[in-house]
Amino acid sequence: MCGIFAYLNFNLQKERSYILQVLFNGLRRLEYRGYDSAGISIDNSSSSRPLVFRQEGNIESLVKCVYQEVASTDLNLEESFVVHAGIAHTRWATHGVPAPRNSHPQASDSGNEFLVVHNGVITNYEVLKETLVRHGFTFESETDTEVIPKLAKFVFDKANEEEGTQTVTFSQVVLEVMRHLEGAYALIFKSRHYPNELIACKRGSPLLLGVKELAEDNNSGPAFQDAKFLSKDGRPKEFFLSSDPNAIVEHTKKVLVIEDGEVVHLKDGNVSILKFPNDKGRHGGTIARPASVQRALSVLEMEVEQINKGGYEHYMQKEIHEQPESLTTTMRGRLIQGGSCKAKTVLLGGLKDHMKTIRRSRRIVFVGCGTSYNAALASRPILEELSGVPVTMEIASDLVDRQGPIYREDTAVFVSQSGETADTLLALEYALENGALCVGITNTVGSAIARKTHCGVHINAGAEIGVASTKAYTSQIVVMAILALAVGGDTISNQARREAIVDGLYDLPSKVREVLKLDNEMKDLAKQLVAEQSLLVFGRGYNYATALEGALKVKEVSLMHSEGMLAGEMKHGPLALVDENLPIIVIATHDACFSKQQSVIQQLHARRGRLIVLCSKGDAASVCPGDSCRVIEVPQVEDCLQPVVNIVPLQLLAYHLTVLRGHNVDQPRNLAKSVTTQ
Ligand code: F6R
Repeated sequence: MCGIFAYLNFNLQKERSYILQVLFNGLRRLEYRGYDSAGISIDNSSSSRPLVFRQEGNIESLVKCVYQEVASTDLNLEESFVVHAGIAHTRWATHGVPAPRNSHPQASDSGNEFLVVHNGVITNYEVLKETLVRHGFTFESETDTEVIPKLAKFVFDKANEEEGTQTVTFSQVVLEVMRHLEGAYALIFKSRHYPNELIACKRGSPLLLGVKELAEDNNSGPAFQDAKFLSKDGRPKEFFLSSDPNAIVEHTKKVLVIEDGEVVHLKDGNVSILKFPNDKGRHGGTIARPASVQRALSVLEMEVEQINKGGYEHYMQKEIHEQPESLTTTMRGRLIQGGSCKAKTVLLGGLKDHMKTIRRSRRIVFVGCGTSYNAALASRPILEELSGVPVTMEIASDLVDRQGPIYREDTAVFVSQSGETADTLLALEYALENGALCVGITNTVGSAIARKTHCGVHINAGAEIGVASTKAYTSQIVVMAILALAVGGDTISNQARREAIVDGLYDLPSKVREVLKLDNEMKDLAKQLVAEQSLLVFGRGYNYATALEGALKVKEVSLMHSEGMLAGEMKHGPLALVDENLPIIVIATHDACFSKQQSVIQQLHARRGRLIVLCSKGDAASVCPGDSCRVIEVPQVEDCLQPVVNIVPLQLLAYHLTVLRGHNVDQPRNLAKSVTTQ
């Protein structure tokens, strides 16, 4: 949800065209975080006033606008800079419609004294705005962000007025600004008063610094040591600031994950970090003094290939098709077969110190949003069955809205692909306040949810760039099945069941590979459904979640209305919708609910329902009441793993429907990945 990026070259001759390319490419990598509008700021050598370009629409609209402006002015693309600081932003609108005036960088004034790109939401912006208006500032945008550069100018002007000369440093200005901001944010500041410097800071929203020292072997070797990292050696360097590693990894793997409350100052080729001691800026009513901190860089564990489309047309398509591999990576090192006791068992290193507490919990509460919630719902029955602990489900925003009961004796499991979702984070804070053991299941190492939970598991599905979550969903279910096995423990009574699940997990990638062969069949089905207004998906038991998730995929990318429903509820209302026109997918793979689903199909058929049945291979004849019924046959696997197989044809259907209906697959209307606002 909004992506911010910056590039600073130090002691390194770079042409303006190169700097623009780095900024545009950074934005392209972050575009999945928001694509309502975009903007950049670079220097103008003939004036100290930085140039700002802002454009409604996606990154390519911005690129076009910048080159058009360059062509109509005397801006030289070949002009080079030994040091230059540029900032960039791609926006998912929260406050104010997508329009150039609401795009970032937001400016302090027409002279662009302070420029800011922002990801997050400033919750007290109205109060700040009123104060700034009283001090003579005028506002152009409807954004919450605009208060930030204006506040910076206010602080800067006031400090210099008092001193009579410019003595205040860039980091002092930003630290003072930060003390007044409430909400969640990651910010990058550029200023005409501090040319060739950048400041980054954050609270709540993610931000990374990438460092490329040109004398170093770029992508290998140990992490920098603090002293070396902060050395004033004057060596040529490139710095990259980004909302996520996708925009950094093609340049360097050496990164600093900036922490809440930190202010990172890039100046003269050095990095200095200041941090508020209590991460708030205020301490016991008095203003806390920020202290200088030393941090070592870490090495990104991802490859550039992960963030490319790799021969596919769209990221969503690539991510659907790479599920056999992502599932294998998710399970790597976690399934143990043999050993001294010859048992088939599982290992979740991140939870081993807390396993006793989880087993003794009064309740396990799953918390998540959207697809992550659905993955938890799919995993609930096996966790209940193997652990014997009651499992309840909470949609993160609803838990917070209700202030629902969470107890010290609860284990609350927070499921989130990005690890940054604001609703899930708020629910986590609430559960922490209430004393529950908090477990995180995320795909993003170092994310807020990964850091704030007591313990957790990474799903290791690899970067997911398509806004619609696909491979993260199946990896989440697999991790939660392993969690169920781990919590269930090695009791004699469930040994056979456990072993069957472990065997099923080993086989799962090959079963998913098999089901991916339905691609053409699903494309054909999409052609049949392309002009429909609506689609229903019925599931129950393990596959109630599949119905919800299949319908969510269809609606969010193809923009066709679709609803996932619990088949047991059909007679209690939804049956009224059934006629010969409305397409209905019924999930009826072979499990304990199979016979009930058979009778659902019969009842729909009796009302001339237009049926598409998703069933286990070989079951077509027994589930389909007539010739008019269309069948999707999938391989049968262990019941608790069947949702992983069953969702794949529905992901493919959603994908093909979207392409056929001419919508943007990877950037669905109004959506963004990582929903970092409430
Ligand atoms: C749907 C989708 C969203 C996310 C939801 C939670 O395809 O991606 O529903 O699942 O916004 O996001 P995370 O998992 O990052 O917390």
